[in-house]
Amino acid sequence: MPLYRQRVAAGQIRPDPAQMAAVEKLQLLHMRLKNYNPSRGAKVSLGWLGFGRKAAKRDKPLTGLYLYGGVGRGKSMLMDLFFETAPIGRKRRVHFHAFMQEVHVGIHIARESGIRDPIQPVADEVSEGAVLLCFDEVQVTDITDAMILGRLFEALFERHVVVVATSNRHPDDLYKNGLNRDLFMPFINMLKERVDIHELDSQQDYRQDREEAGERVYFSPLGNAADKAMDAAWKAVSGGSEHPLTLSVHGRRVEIPRAAEEAGRASFAELCEKPLGPADFLAVAEAFDTFFLDRVPILSRAKNNEAKRFVTLIDALYEAKVRLYMSAAAEPERLYLEGEGAFEFQRTASRLAEMSSADWTRNDPSEH
Ligand SMILES: Nc1ncnc2c1ncn2[C@@H]1O[C@H](COP(=O)(O)OP(=O)(O)O)[C@@H](O)[C@H]1O
Ligand SMILES: [Mg+2]
Repeated sequence: MPLYRQRVAAGQIRPDPAQMAAVEKLQLLHMRLKNYNPSRGAKVSLGWLGFGRKAAKRDKPLTGLYLYGGVGRGKSMLMDLFFETAPIGRKRRVHFHAFMQEVHVGIHIARESGIRDPIQPVADEVSEGAVLLCFDEVQVTDITDAMILGRLFEALFERHVVVVATSNRHPDDLYKNGLNRDLFMPFINMLKERVDIHELDSQQDYRQDREEAGERVYFSPLGNAADKAMDAAWKAVSGGSEHPLTLSVHGRRVEIPRAAEEAGRASFAELCEKPLGPADFLAVAEAFDTFFLDRVPILSRAKNNEAKRFVTLIDALYEAKVRLYMSAAAEPERLYLEGEGAFEFQRTASRLAEMSSADWTRNDPSEH
């Protein structure tokens, strides 16, 4: 990808050998996409069908790349650079979580209209919309996702969709210890068979690097000082006038106790201790440019559901590039130290750190 080299040359990206290796893979995919005809699949797939195992290694059909590795290594950045310049009209970049939400809605609609295999119309619609799908943050924690992923991706690959994905985990570690995991194995095997699995093994966590002193947006520990600081920032942002706001999501009501212009405010208890789901949090992220989240406690096994909702909320706010003010019991990396989900939380902690950095809002929201 010339764009990577350009940005290195311009001093915007620090040269990184591990990233270069991934760039080469993406460059290869870029070249192959140039003459890609999705109605046939890649030309090379004929060779793959015809010449057995050895040929399969050399001439895999064009199905994609799965980039995995620790947080802040540049996976999303590389995928975005690739996506921007991918020589194909019908392309789509989407957060995996948001994509799965859509899939569930699609399956629901197909079922209602009496279609026996609802995966098929959903796969039709997805593949008509995009030949190249870029998924950010692939992770599987939900049993309903786990149960449909195998058939969904089989249907997508049958339609010659090309998939690029980022994840914190190797496919073998997806949905680890999940319920009925054996039913999920075909998905893992298909990924390994059809998609190039590449570890982005940078030595550097670039996200940590970006933390600089700036206007403070993260206040811990909890207490009077944190509350006061949140109130002062809220006053400056809201201009002193506010009202409660009700968002309506698929016919449900999500109450935001305080809203002003493009800013909203709620406490952890008001959002994460209620039975809200991903669609609700996406709606919150869409509704506001700036969000204030008060009094996030230490999360633990005992608060697993609350913690999951919190992670989903932060993902949604992060993806939508919302400016986040938050008061919390501890620094991001000490909010969740043990229990189911502690591993996934590393990513949330990293995102919270990035969202607290001075240049977070300088990012152009239209980029994503
Ligand atoms: N080589 C690099 N030089 C400078 N900044 C980088 C480099 N690689 C990544 N970054 C920045 O570090 C941050 C984290 O990268 P990101 O792609 O979000 O990581 P990941 O998706 O692996 O968690 C981003 O803001 C990104 O622009
Ligand atoms: Mg990422």
